[in-house]
Amino acid sequence: MTSITQTNLQAHGGPLVNRELSEEEWKNVDKEDLQAITVSPWTVSDIELIGIGGFSPLTGFMGKEDYLSVVNKTRLANGLVWSIPITLPVTREEAEQLNIGDRVLLLGEDGITYGVLDLEEKYEYDKALEAQNVYGTTDSAHPGVKKVYEKGEVYLAGPIHLVNRPDHGDFADQYMDPKETRAMFADLGWKTIVGFQTRNPVHRAHEYIQKCALEAVDGLLLNPLVGETKSDDISAEIRMESYKVILENYYPKDRTRLVIYPAAMRYAGPKEAILHAIVRKNYGCTHFIVGRDHAGVGDYYGTYEAQELISQYEEELGIGIFKFEHAFYCKKCGNMGTAKTCPHDKEFHVHLSGTKVREMLRQGIKPPAEFSRPEVAEVLIKGMQVQE
Ligand code: ADX
Repeated sequence: MTSITQTNLQAHGGPLVNRELSEEEWKNVDKEDLQAITVSPWTVSDIELIGIGGFSPLTGFMGKEDYLSVVNKTRLANGLVWSIPITLPVTREEAEQLNIGDRVLLLGEDGITYGVLDLEEKYEYDKALEAQNVYGTTDSAHPGVKKVYEKGEVYLAGPIHLVNRPDHGDFADQYMDPKETRAMFADLGWKTIVGFQTRNPVHRAHEYIQKCALEAVDGLLLNPLVGETKSDDISAEIRMESYKVILENYYPKDRTRLVIYPAAMRYAGPKEAILHAIVRKNYGCTHFIVGRDHAGVGDYYGTYEAQELISQYEEELGIGIFKFEHAFYCKKCGNMGTAKTCPHDKEFHVHLSGTKVREMLRQGIKPPAEFSRPEVAEVLIKGMQVQE
């Protein structure tokens, strides 16, 4: 296992980025005659992650050189590994209103100014190329590809500053920026920390792989993604309740922390696994879990494609990757395992698809205890009945 520890952990490519303006600095910005555009919630989450250093070393939205390099070579133009373009799309009409050198206010749909962009570049891009190289398909039924096809034709690029952080409402208590998580790990005396990405409630398989990892490191950062997800995923509000309940009942309090990851979900499978690892490194994790079909959707990616791709970059990423095979409950073993640890036939393994589980929950049926902790199932059933 790699010997990376908290004390020698850099952010990706160097120091942790901070692009946040203080109130005082913002007051002193001359706002006369500034152009303003309204951006999507997805872009607001990107502005926040750039601003707080989650996307270090990025200091703004990618220019054409970085963009093409990321899309074609999985690297920034300077050679640093980066797998998903971070871009600011606008329509051609919006782009025409703006000139290079302009300072542009970035407003959310709620009218709040979240960021300010110093416009250095505007460029058109090849949507099919982005879809194929980042998502591995041009099929517009893929939720990430659909977004690519829906967004504006022009990318704006240049450094940004974060002016206001989005309000994380009910999740404020679970919000920390990378500077804060790093300080927290140091305070806790954790030298090795495993980060866990999820967009789902934590089921027994998740719990199993988290705890296998926790046997080898000092602490677990449960870091659920709470930005935009597709409409049939379980809402972040319901999930957050389920995380609290499982941590409370089944995890050691002094070795686990719950902090939200405010990004949008791309569903880009292997390429997104790399982004997820980079971001968790920036939050101060020394290790990251990549299990089966990480960040996948439908049948677009092979079960272990994300693990295979990230393995090619592991040394350069500077974060240890815990790779886990498909985990399940085995009735004969009487516990969780994978093909690496369980010798029994598939007939003894409890397998439930996400779709099947959601269907059960909607009908108020508790999935079996081999699949989900009963406390978690209860929260989900209650939550989904209220939601519908
Ligand atoms: S996602 O963000 O990667 O789309 P998901 O909640 O499905 O979220 O998975 C979280 C993490 O757990 C990923 O690393 C995924 O590969 C892993 N994982 C999910 N289910 C299993 C399983 N049954 N066995 C092994 N790993 C799993």
